[in-house]
Amino acid sequence: MPQPFPHRHLLGIEGLSAPDILAILDEAEPWAAFNRGARKADGRLAGLTQINAFFENSTRTLFSFEIAGKRLGAQVSNFHPAASSVRKGESLTDTALTLNAMRPDILVIRHEADGAAADVAALMDCPVINAGDGAGEHPTQALLDALTIRRRLGRIDGLKIAICGDVRHSRVAASNMRSLPLLGAELRLVGPPALLPDHPQQPVFTDMAEGISGCDVVMMLRIQHERMGEQLEMEDYHDSYGLTHAKLDKYAPNAIVMHPGPMNRGVEIDGALADDSARSAILDQVELGVAVRMACLDLLTRARRG
Ligand code: NCD
Repeated sequence: MPQPFPHRHLLGIEGLSAPDILAILDEAEPWAAFNRGARKADGRLAGLTQINAFFENSTRTLFSFEIAGKRLGAQVSNFHPAASSVRKGESLTDTALTLNAMRPDILVIRHEADGAAADVAALMDCPVINAGDGAGEHPTQALLDALTIRRRLGRIDGLKIAICGDVRHSRVAASNMRSLPLLGAELRLVGPPALLPDHPQQPVFTDMAEGISGCDVVMMLRIQHERMGEQLEMEDYHDSYGLTHAKLDKYAPNAIVMHPGPMNRGVEIDGALADDSARSAILDQVELGVAVRMACLDLLTRARRG
């Protein structure tokens, strides 16, 4: 008997327990196999309306939410802010109230403002999934990262995981810094001082060799120029904080490499390493993103489906 999920919305990893997270990962497992089948059609969300409202650019997240909803049978509509009345100055509140009046059964939202998903959720009659709010959270990314690690390495508990690069501005890091320790991982944050958080809860390293040394997972992040007041001095970044085969082989010879995308090849990660599927789990992350999002859409709409 499928269990009801004890939360109305998925706004962040904050507020979830380890059993909540593990329940989502367990629900996602069968979808990973299903998504490799020839016919990928399940009707459990048939008749339900899913709106994806992405106010910020996205390739992986938007597309995988759309594919996930369609594979479950939902009627999926993408709201395009650039072609909407947002361009005429309509506020986020009025946009949310308008979308709500169309009676969606689930809303997936990405917005450049921290807290936007929670603000919108307070106005909606349906569950809301946060697909990224400013530098706030990106919970489905952390969930798909956890599933990727669990499937590649068999466990999360007890692993040493380094998150490297622009930790300060990354909502992916913010969500992973909540989920991975809950699941028993030992986290380290690695980057130049300007890109590390002000009040880190985990050990920080400004020396990359030291930070990734002996790790099981090295998670690389893009520099989020769009969230920085002044631009970072980029010279030498690749030498100091870029991940290459040579660095990995020397300091973390058994580690898998992850990156949420979009990647800047030759900046935070060497292209040849990103493409080496023996070391890099980057495309596993994309593949499992669909499975995790199917699990989230299914779990959050269960109560409405009766
Ligand atoms: C990330 C995001 O948008 O937060 N991408 C993603 O969703 N896979 C990371 C990024 O933009 O660097």
